[in-house]
Amino acid sequence: MNKKTFYSVLVATIVSPAAFCASILDRANYDEAKVPKYELPDVLSAPGCVAAASSAVEWTERVRPRVLESFENDIYGKLPPRCASTKFEILEQGEAFGGKALRRQIRITVSDAKGSRSFDMLLFSPMGAKGKTPVFLGLNFMGNHSTCFDKNVMLAPTCDRKTGEVKQPSEADRGTQAKRWPYEAALARGYAVATIYYCQIYPDYPLPESAQKSIYGIFSPDKIADRGGAIAAWTWGISRAIDCLETLPDIDAKRIAVLGHSRLGKTSLYAGATDGRVALLVSNNSGCMGSALSRRKFGETLELMLFQFPHWLDSKIAKYSGKEEDMPIDQHQLMALIAPRPLYITSASEDLWADPRGELMALVEASKVYALFGARALPSMENFEIEKPFMGDVGYHLRRGKHDILEYDWKNFLDFADIHFFGPGKR
Ligand code: GCU
Repeated sequence: MNKKTFYSVLVATIVSPAAFCASILDRANYDEAKVPKYELPDVLSAPGCVAAASSAVEWTERVRPRVLESFENDIYGKLPPRCASTKFEILEQGEAFGGKALRRQIRITVSDAKGSRSFDMLLFSPMGAKGKTPVFLGLNFMGNHSTCFDKNVMLAPTCDRKTGEVKQPSEADRGTQAKRWPYEAALARGYAVATIYYCQIYPDYPLPESAQKSIYGIFSPDKIADRGGAIAAWTWGISRAIDCLETLPDIDAKRIAVLGHSRLGKTSLYAGATDGRVALLVSNNSGCMGSALSRRKFGETLELMLFQFPHWLDSKIAKYSGKEEDMPIDQHQLMALIAPRPLYITSASEDLWADPRGELMALVEASKVYALFGARALPSMENFEIEKPFMGDVGYHLRRGKHDILEYDWKNFLDFADIHFFGPGKR
């Protein structure tokens, strides 16, 4: 934050904190003509690399490790190490959706020198499936019980996103996010779906104690000296959920798709980049520090993000606030880290805060790395068309409407997964 901003913050906070907050966020640019001239770092190269890669092997051996290192050191921070012990315990299981699914609620307990934390995975899988089932795994915003109306799903306390205050849920909280989790549609197409309440991994509020309450709190400080923020913690949680899915004989550990919306779409991208077991990746409306190019400064910017959510990223990133052009990398390079695995990015037409155009631009750039791996069905800016999904080696759609994740989005994720998990025409 520069001096002028700092003083306006001070004055406005004293006069009216809410009005001030709105006025800062109102500074977002929504005018293409005001996007500054910028030069993107070459996706075939890496910070400190002398020459661009000209083959997949070169890119994988020489470029990829450096790009990943830069995301770890400069943007999200390093994931915590594996912990001393991870325990999986089936707390409950039974029939769901009128016998169409098996419901499992599995407690994942992670422990290390300073203690333990537990998070609960809700898993629905198609009843009587032949062979191993592919699975979509994603974190949720409001508790597992909010994702459906099934009364057997345990009610879990939720956490206020500003104060961290813990709220005891009631029956009325069931299903409040059900439209974001069309389980029956996925089950009918042969997919299992697994979800975890993200605040059980890192309670999402910007006060210092949230980190201590999170999974970071189980490690002795020297073990996580260069730890990242909340996004790195959620990403680590996804990897522990994959550890658990790998132990289930009916789940196909080779066909694990990870998905996430918004802040959890930023998280899913980082999970795809850091965990090779992710076989297909979906990032929905993930915007700033997710799919959108930072250098465009359209909609939310790093400065605006740090103002509202200072706990999400690595603390070292603050030096780039307002100076995105100095960042060693940009978000197209995060997507490239997922290559050659299938990657699906979405935008929504009215979600200007997330910079829809910048999201597709990043994917088009990242596609150059997919091309090194032999991919030929790749998107261009011509795919920036409302509700005309592009489904190639990577995929994209621009849904009509607001920031959200809806049945339309899921239908496309399932179509995309069908192509890559089963092959065209095999279903
Ligand atoms: C805010 C934030 C976004 C984020 C979104 C969400 O709008 O500015 O970066 O994606 O919340 O997670 O819902």
